[in-house]
Amino acid sequence: MSTKTDIRGVSGHVGETVRIGCWVNNKRSSGKIQFLQLRDGTGYIQGVVVKNEVSEEIWNDAKSLTQESSLYVTGIIREEPRSKSGYEMTVTGIEVLHITEDYPITPKEHGVDFLMDHRHLWLRSTKQRAVMVVRAQIVRAIREFFDTRGFTLMDPPILTPSSAEGTTELFHIKYFDEDAYLTQSGQLYMEAAAMALGKVYSFGPTFRAEKSKTRRHLIEFWMIEPEMAFVELQESLEIQEQFVSHVVQSVLTNCRAELETLERDVTKLEQVVGPFPRITYDEAIKFLNENGFEVPWGEDFGAPHETAIANHYDKPVFITHYPAEIKAFYMKPDPNRPEVVLCADMIAPEGYGEIIGGSQRIDDPKLMEERFAQHNLTPEAYQWYMDLRKYGSVPHSGFGLGLERTVAWICGLDHVRETIPFPRMLYRLYP
Ligand code: 4AD
Ligand code: MG
Repeated sequence: MSTKTDIRGVSGHVGETVRIGCWVNNKRSSGKIQFLQLRDGTGYIQGVVVKNEVSEEIWNDAKSLTQESSLYVTGIIREEPRSKSGYEMTVTGIEVLHITEDYPITPKEHGVDFLMDHRHLWLRSTKQRAVMVVRAQIVRAIREFFDTRGFTLMDPPILTPSSAEGTTELFHIKYFDEDAYLTQSGQLYMEAAAMALGKVYSFGPTFRAEKSKTRRHLIEFWMIEPEMAFVELQESLEIQEQFVSHVVQSVLTNCRAELETLERDVTKLEQVVGPFPRITYDEAIKFLNENGFEVPWGEDFGAPHETAIANHYDKPVFITHYPAEIKAFYMKPDPNRPEVVLCADMIAPEGYGEIIGGSQRIDDPKLMEERFAQHNLTPEAYQWYMDLRKYGSVPHSGFGLGLERTVAWICGLDHVRETIPFPRMLYRLYP
């Protein structure tokens, strides 16, 4: 008799006969023994087929298996200290499900475009699986953080009548006879939600028609957007550093094997505990100009600037108080210095760039109206948003964390394209 299990569960079946549905990751043979490297998505195990101990039929079935062939394998689980997983299987039975021919992704090197065209298959590879496992853990840690701190999950709409972050990057679609846009950010709706439930967060896909072809930009990406009534900028920064520390430490605790697969230098991640350094935009400008960059006050930072600043620290760093001119319309001006706003970007270490953008929001209805005019936004489309200032306006703050940039950083990946199952990028909509 055999028990059905997955590879993750074999530790509970030492000395027993189990049956596992799996694929062949790789195969080695030494004449009288075949070593099957098997994977089922939950883990990896080596199946050992010994010629003298199995029927000719089983031996030949094992021989017929190619990379990515599928099967049910039956065998006895043994502890094996030399194996990475700590276990091995002595194969006693094979039910071939499907023999794969000409699997396109071989153990040799492939170009990025080729791999991206085969993303549906590339996901099966050890490294890509590890990234997806870490991504799932990051999502779990994010939810855990907010769910245990009195935040309520609220889902903003994906189809919207207006823009949150600027009109140039909107995806336009027809909504029957009206114009609609795919959401760039749920923030404005989350502000309404915060006025109803106090502390809220959203977690969903956002879309930006950005013509940027960089290693940090996706067209479709997932964002976590907390919004908090009666919270001002400094308190929001404290929550952000606790939040990001929690996520990083949770991955360190729960994804050791995956981080090892990804060859991630975990000592870098171990340093990510709050508090994080804070510098103002002015200080950042000064630092850059003293370090070989020429950035006039009032200009936004690009990737090289962010990297130069981040390299100065071994933790994420907040850059606060940017000029109002280069930030979104809803950010609250600093009462002592209205040309800068009460905002902060969190820049990840090791060149991963901005992972969080956030601010305190304008709560004064008059000022908000002025901003609509300055930014050429049609007040009619934002009537509901103005109501939030009209009826019981309060100081409030929020922020947005980009999931994929966070995954890229924690996994130590070169490019965000590997952080999401099916990336949508400039010139890539397939598969
Ligand atoms: O700085 P952003 O544009 O801020 C907002 O959208 C605010 N409304 C958030 C808020 O306060 N509720 O975007 C927030 C984060 C960035 O820091 C970055 O991590 C990520 O979203 N992001 C992207 N990630 C991948 N590809 C892109 N094209 C991204 N654009 C922004
Ligand atoms: Mg930003």
